[in-house]
Amino acid sequence: MSTDTVDEGKRRFLVTSTSVVGAVGAGFVAVPFLSSWMPSERAKNAGAPVEADISRLEEGRMMTVEWQSKPVWIVRRSEKTLADLEKNNDNLRDPASDNLDQQPEYAKNMQRSRKPEILVLVGICTHLGCSPTFRPDIAPADLGENWMGGFFCPCHSSKFDLAGRVFQGVPAPTNLAVPPHYYVTDNTILIGQDGEAA
Ligand code: FES
Repeated sequence: MSTDTVDEGKRRFLVTSTSVVGAVGAGFVAVPFLSSWMPSERAKNAGAPVEADISRLEEGRMMTVEWQSKPVWIVRRSEKTLADLEKNNDNLRDPASDNLDQQPEYAKNMQRSRKPEILVLVGICTHLGCSPTFRPDIAPADLGENWMGGFFCPCHSSKFDLAGRVFQGVPAPTNLAVPPHYYVTDNTILIGQDGEAA
């Protein structure tokens, strides 16, 4: 056996060995990369739109659904509640919903909703993120005689009316957010997605 032949054999062995290690190494790298890149089912579900059945939601009541790990409130308002909204206007920070970040275009109205009687809001205070309480009662002792119903944040006393509009003189800077939503049927709302109203 000549030296050349031996060297050639060693070289082939080294090339083959390196290719195998390289392939194995690539395999070890590729699997974790692929699994960390693919969104998990949970992550996909957390961002997905959520359907809400409002067929049993009574007037004056609120129901809550979860969307993107946030509470979304749905309130069925009475004619009187809708008429009372206007009485709050002078005491609100943004009565006409001029801050366009806080609601889709179709909710830029006094009711802040697609259908006047149905309010859909993200139930998170725009100050530091506490969840306000639903206070539909009129003129309760703790909120004063001018209170026409709304939401009260117990963390730092921010107040919002029954359209989610923030009052002046409280820490919350903006109205509560209206999430994108539309009516799939009269009694089914898809929250988290825009579309044509049914
Ligand atoms: S978090 Fe609601 S008032 Fe501060």
